[in-house]
Amino acid sequence: MLAQQSSNAGIPDTVKTICCIGAGYVGGPTMAVIAYKAPHVKVIVVDLNQARIDAWNSDKLPIYEPGLDEVVKASRGRNLFFTTDVDASIKEADAIFVSVNTPTKTFGMGKGCAADLKYLESAARRIAEVSESGKIVIEKSTVPVKSAEAIRAILTANTKSKCRFTILSNPEFLAEGTAIPDLMAPDRVLIGGDEDEDGQKAVKALSAVYNNWVPAERIITTNTWSSELSKLTANAFLAQRISSINSISALCEATGADVDEVANAIGKDTRIGSKFLKASVGFGGSCFQKDILNLVYLCKTYNLHEVAEYWQQVVDINEYQKKRFSLQIVRSLFNTVTNKKIAIMGFAFKKDTGDTRESASIDVIKYLMDEGANIAIYDPKVEESQIDMDLLPPGVDAKASAKVKSLYTIHTDPYEAAKDAHAIVVCTEWDEFKTFDYQKIYNDMYKPAFLFDGRKILDIEAMKTIGFQASVIGTKC
Ligand code: UDX
Ligand code: ADP
Repeated sequence: MLAQQSSNAGIPDTVKTICCIGAGYVGGPTMAVIAYKAPHVKVIVVDLNQARIDAWNSDKLPIYEPGLDEVVKASRGRNLFFTTDVDASIKEADAIFVSVNTPTKTFGMGKGCAADLKYLESAARRIAEVSESGKIVIEKSTVPVKSAEAIRAILTANTKSKCRFTILSNPEFLAEGTAIPDLMAPDRVLIGGDEDEDGQKAVKALSAVYNNWVPAERIITTNTWSSELSKLTANAFLAQRISSINSISALCEATGADVDEVANAIGKDTRIGSKFLKASVGFGGSCFQKDILNLVYLCKTYNLHEVAEYWQQVVDINEYQKKRFSLQIVRSLFNTVTNKKIAIMGFAFKKDTGDTRESASIDVIKYLMDEGANIAIYDPKVEESQIDMDLLPPGVDAKASAKVKSLYTIHTDPYEAAKDAHAIVVCTEWDEFKTFDYQKIYNDMYKPAFLFDGRKILDIEAMKTIGFQASVIGTKC
């Protein structure tokens, strides 16, 4: 018995069973693709949230992601399992992905900037508590640099057995809406680990899992800190491109240049490249703002104030863009939107997802509601309950909440949302918005009818021909 225990106490050479803690936007699709591509590996996804697990086991998955249904259906019940039995799954696994949420702190030290690591910490404590054999523990959530050290400290301080742990950083680079193709054919897989024997053994074991479908040259291995910092840096660079082009969109509107033409011209320079240069009402999503704020906090912690300010500007421009767009709507509607109906097309932070975290739509709606507008919301994928959660301020009394609720309605028919509206505002780049019958929408609207395109997806000249007072971000109107 003793011999058995000590032989299991080391770091596993191969990964036969995976446990993923956290069945969210990252954990769910990532594990589904691993199970699909590595059918000999058993993959168990666990979450404390019973409703979420039930949904993963049902025909209506808890998240919308093109291609996800097929991938889950192909492996579920074969080598892919969803359960709330966290402890048993931890015990069984050789490798444990920690894919819990790490939201920006809303209180205390680092409020509004640092990541809240309470979910990560509690997951680490659980692993330490119940493990009976050596484990490879993999950080999948976006975490501040040096979180691996915190996980290690928790694991070693709390473990009740003699088993060993090694921590890897394996950041996720998938984008929502394209998660399945991103996971099936990643630009790269990044694995950071300790330089000691256990660390290197674990890096090899995890690389072998990915190598079932990702060519070896696309699997980059680094030390843990480089891997953690690369995730924040990648997102900061991507967000910086959007803020850069959005800052130019303001100048285009002032001068008569067209931001799409500028983006196209500079994107042809191979040193710049054409991706992530689409002007918008502002970036959203669970990563960009959070990761940049993490980076800012990290810089401040190391007394690098100039560097912190530099990256903070990327977030500031994003706030400016959302406000600027909202102001433009008010200004065009004769400086008042009080009691005017405004239809908002799109509530998700981008197309092909039902995720609303940090969606620009939320800020635009809140701004217009503050000005007394009546908002009619249409989104093809976002649930009504989610919209309520995003718009109704948490912790306010029923009376205040009812007042906010009286300022917006949620529609399942876009034409109904637009009927009798003074303006329609495109906040998300859903493909279906391009093919609406705009003549019908125009006919049913209050005149003059205004159209604001914060995503630059519509043909502005065609909209003007119909009769709209059309205004598109990054173009002089
Ligand atoms: C991002 C990163 O792309 C991904 O690598 C990382 O793992 C997580 O964060 P995601 O937030 O899912 O992914 O979506 P992404 O496609 O990057 O878009 C983020 C936001 O930027 C969206 O609101 C999108 O509409 C906006 N955006 C994107 C623009 O406004 N213009 C662009 O040119 C591109
Ligand atoms: P992400 O976009 O990073 O995937 P989500 O919020 O979609 O974030 O998912 C994180 C999931 O992690 C949630 O479903 C949450 O219930 C789950 N979770 C958080 N802490 C724990 C924990 N200690 N054990 C199990 N699941 C957890």
